[in-house]
Amino acid sequence: MTPYGGLGPDVNVTSLPPQSEQVLGAMDAAREATLSLVAELDAEQLERVHSPLMSPLVWDLGHIAAYEDLWIAHRHGGRPLLREDLAGLYDAFETPRAVRGEIEALETGPALAYLEEVRERTREVLRGRGTGDGLVVEMVLRHEMQHCETMRQTMAIAGLLPAGEPALAPLRGEDGWLEVPAGSFEMGASGEGFAYDNERPRHHVHVAAFRIAHRPVTNATWMHFCEGGGYERREWWSREGWSWKQEYDITHHLSIAEGHPEAPVCHVSWFEADAFARAHDARLPTEAEWEKAATSEQGERLEAVGSTWEWTATEFAGYPGFRAYPYREYSEVFFHEGYRVLRGGSWATDPRVRTLTFRNWDLPQRRQIFSGLRLARDA
Ligand code: AVJ
Ligand code: FE
Repeated sequence: MTPYGGLGPDVNVTSLPPQSEQVLGAMDAAREATLSLVAELDAEQLERVHSPLMSPLVWDLGHIAAYEDLWIAHRHGGRPLLREDLAGLYDAFETPRAVRGEIEALETGPALAYLEEVRERTREVLRGRGTGDGLVVEMVLRHEMQHCETMRQTMAIAGLLPAGEPALAPLRGEDGWLEVPAGSFEMGASGEGFAYDNERPRHHVHVAAFRIAHRPVTNATWMHFCEGGGYERREWWSREGWSWKQEYDITHHLSIAEGHPEAPVCHVSWFEADAFARAHDARLPTEAEWEKAATSEQGERLEAVGSTWEWTATEFAGYPGFRAYPYREYSEVFFHEGYRVLRGGSWATDPRVRTLTFRNWDLPQRRQIFSGLRLARDA
């Protein structure tokens, strides 16, 4: 669901400039959000490596600019890159997170200037030739929004989140289960408007009867799990989860102990979520179950979708008939590599990104993501 659709072939060219103005307005609003997120940080905080898992914040800023320049001025506008010399440095695959602290990336001042110079070229190109089918421009906009969430993960690790964040409020409503009868549904994004390649093609999926919790798991319930030997009872853990726990000596969960008891849990790994579910005679929902429930008529009974990402049982892979678009490194290179799918979105995810068909993914041991869970059971 995007507020602006692709242009049909019969659209008169005179409608191009307003289309461009609309998306440029959204891009400028996203930029303001990015800049205000880092406004209170000094250069040292922006340039430091806070965690070996995460980039320095200033790398995300340069990368946002490089991505925008690559896709809009260069690929869409046919111009040479503004900074050819920075292309490799800000390519996520040529320069993986682990080495981003050591490279000669732009410092804070030049990174901010690069963002603004690229945006100026974006304005020229979009005003000059319109947005084309609109898909690539929308991808660039959502890319910046997604990196803002990544930056918040880094800031959470470093204790640098702005006041009032994380915005995780106590849940209202009551526990209980949504009963979903057996049947098929259309999974994935429809053919219209923007969607990532991994949400397509939309396809028919039959799902056996199941139940899914109205509410995500809360901090209080998680504390109960800890106190009941959650991290000691071997039978609740998968083999991989148990060895992860042993290797890193994981015995509890700090940020859950600090959260409001009635707020959803955050920063749990898939391994922990999986063990928690088993301890409750339940399991994680499959990705298809999650989407079927959320998009059904009763879907509005699922409380707090969009508070924390929700782990699913499903390994990240392409839907039948998947085709990479517009580049393999967005999704395809992560298929069948042990990543698990998360659904729903977090408090840090822009609503434009967190649609009910959006698929996020991460490795089962990761805890930096704003991740919780919702239980499911066979009917
Ligand atoms: C969809 C959040 C897993 O951060 O790796 C950012 C989004 N892709 N730049 C990621 C993304 C390219 C992606 N996730
Ligand atoms: Fe990126």
